[in-house]
This record gives sequence, C-alpha cells and structure tokens, in this order.
Amino acid sequence: MTVQHKAGVPDGAREANGWQPDECGLRQVGLACAVAAALSVPFFAVGAKVSRDAWWAIESVRLAKEHEARAWARVIEAPALAIVPVESAAHGRDVFLSACILCHGADGKGVQGLGRDLTQSPFVASKDDAGLFEFITVGRPDAKPVAMPARAGRTDLTDADLRDVVVFLRGLQDPRRMPELPAPIVRTPAPTEQDKEKALAAAGGDAELAGYIAHGTTIFNSTCIACHGAGGVGIAGNGKALKGNEFVQSLNDDGLLAFLKKGRDPSDPKNTTGVGMPPKGGNPALSDDDLLDVISYVRTLQEKKSASK
Ligand code: HEC
Ligand code: HEC
Repeated sequence: MTVQHKAGVPDGAREANGWQPDECGLRQVGLACAVAAALSVPFFAVGAKVSRDAWWAIESVRLAKEHEARAWARVIEAPALAIVPVESAAHGRDVFLSACILCHGADGKGVQGLGRDLTQSPFVASKDDAGLFEFITVGRPDAKPVAMPARAGRTDLTDADLRDVVVFLRGLQDPRRMPELPAPIVRTPAPTEQDKEKALAAAGGDAELAGYIAHGTTIFNSTCIACHGAGGVGIAGNGKALKGNEFVQSLNDDGLLAFLKKGRDPSDPKNTTGVGMPPKGGNPALSDDDLLDVISYVRTLQEKKSASK
C-alpha cells in the first residue's frame, strides 16, 4: 500500500482506493454548518422579534387596562375641572331620568343585575366627551347577560340630548363639577302622527281609546322599549317579547297594572330569564294612569284571534 500525497491522486485512483471523507470533506461539512448557521441568524432574529412583539402586544394591553382601571381615581385625585354648564347638565339629567334610569338608577350608581355604576366608572373616566357620546350612540348590544342598547334603545333622543347626558355624566363622575340643578322636568314625548293613526286604527275608530293608546305608545317607547324592543318584539337577554304574549293575555287590566307596579325580581320563582323586570319598568315617575295607557297599547300588540276570544 502506497501513501501518496492526496493532491496527487487522480479521481479514478481515489475511488479505487476506497476513498473516505478526509480533512477536505470535513472542512466542507464545517463550512456548510457555518453557512447554515449564518443563514439561520435572520430567522432567530425574526423569531425573537416576533415573540418580543407578541409579548409587547400582551404587555401593552395589560398596561392599558391598568391605566384605565385607575382612570376614575386619577380624575378624583386631580384638581377639579370647571363646573359643568347648568343648563346642559339639567337637561342631560332629565334625559337620564327618562332613558338611563331603568338600568343605571336615578343616582347613576347602577341597578343590580342591569346597568353598571357610572359614577365611579373607569370606562367613563377614560373616555373624552366625544368618545363617551360615541359609546352611548353605539351601546354594547352584545354584552351578556344584559345588553346596553344603542342610544338606550330610544329612537326619539337627538344627538343634542345625548351630548347633554354626557355633560351630566361628567358631573356625576366628579361631584365637584356638578352645579346645583333645578328640579327635574319629566317630559313624555308627544305621540307622532303615525302613533296617532295606528292608535285610532287599533281602537277601531274610538277616539277616546285611541288617545290612551297613543299616550301609552309614547310611554312604552320611552320606558319599556329599552328592554322589550320597538313594537314589543323583545330584546334577547333584556326583556321578553310582549307581542302575542300569553301572560299579557291571561290577565285583565287590573292584574297587569298590579304586575307592572311590582315587576318581577330575578329571585321571583316566576322569573324565567334571570333578568329582573323593574317595578314600573324602572321609571318611578309613571302614574297608574300612565301604566293603564301602556297596557292599552300592549293590548294592541296581541294577536287578533286571542284578542277576540
Ligand atoms: C336596558 C338597560 C340599559 C339602559 C336603558 C342603559 N344602559 Fe348603559 N349599560 C347597560 C349595561 C348592561 C351595561 C354594561 C354592559 C357590559 O356588561 O359591558 C351598560 C354600560 C354603560 C356604560 C359603560 C360603563 C362601564 O363602566 O363600562 C355607559 C357609559 C352607559 N351604560 C351609559 C348609559 C346611558 C348614558 C344611558 C342612557 C342614555 C344608558 N346607559 C342606558 C344597560 C343599560
Ligand atoms: C330594564 C328592563 C325592563 C324594562 C325597562 C321593562 N321590562 Fe318588562 N320585563 C323585563 C324582563 C327581564 C322580563 C322577564 C322577567 C322574567 O324572566 O320572567 C319582563 C317581563 C315583562 C312582562 C311579563 C311578560 C311574561 O311573558 O311573563 C310584562 C307584561 C312586561 N315586562 C311589561 C313591561 C312594560 C309595560 C314596561 C314599561 C312600562 C316594561 N316591561 C319595562 C325587563 C324590563
């Protein structure tokens, strides 16, 4: 066997000698590894960046949440901003007492099982006026178990009304900014021409009954609509359908009046949804006459066949 200098071995001779990877081959493997490592550097770099980005995304959500959670506390700890304009606040309060009271209570502290406390709400404090107005126009229709309907479910409230509600909320959120307000004015929106026409048709031309139904329609549309929906079709999670409703049909007017005055607490064994029906629909300003008019309206939502039985 001859030991030759590798460089001098012709290719054919190497094969014939049973040539194995030698230093030169190792050098190539090493080079390949180095190239592979070099090539993979960007991937590690990208990988690190991706995981850093993911971490930062989670971290910034956490920080934003933490920041928001302290928003109300920050408002209260800071020197008070200017007192809000009394006229806007008073009108906003009147709208609040008709549209928001049902779920958020007269004092805005929330009704158990319905709407949240708005007086110490970090959400309210973290929004500017435009953001809060925007929220009220959109609501949280998907919130569970109870939804916050867009514009409190009210079709009659103007943007100006809702902007005044925002002013009132600023006063609720920081009592240092709330001026002394005049006594509330409870306004029931006047029936529209369409309401009147429908009422007259439902009353079979009886003008007196039509008057009650039309008035009941406006009360329904300002108090009951937030939970029972326009035309009483119901809002899932908020209130049952009152259209073609067997419970309504099973009671006379006195029975229904008694029901409306009492409501149906979630603890009531007859409660089927776990959501409460507040006494007087949550609007303590409603008189028995108002409620009887609402009943006249709700009667018009029943199927003709059951109404005539
Ligand atoms: C039918 C019941 C209902 C009515 C009426 C209603 N809300 Fe709400 N509102 C809710 C519920 C329920 C929530 C909480 C939703 C959730 O869990 O995310 C809420 C949440 C809110 C929030 C956010 C509070 C927070 O801390 O996240 C604001 C602000 C608010 N409502 C304002 C109003 C105003 C102003 C009105 C009247 C114009 C109104 N709501 C009428 C049910 C209602
Ligand atoms: C804050 C939400 C809310 C408001 C406002 C409200 N309701 Fe209700 N109402 C409910 C809920 C929830 C139920 C169903 C309770 C249950 O699970 O049995 C209900 C049930 C009823 C029922 C019984 C229906 C049945 O099939 O058992 C009648 C009738 C009714 N409401 C009428 C009214 C009228 C009229 C108004 C306005 C004056 C009104 N409600 C306002 C939430 C509301």
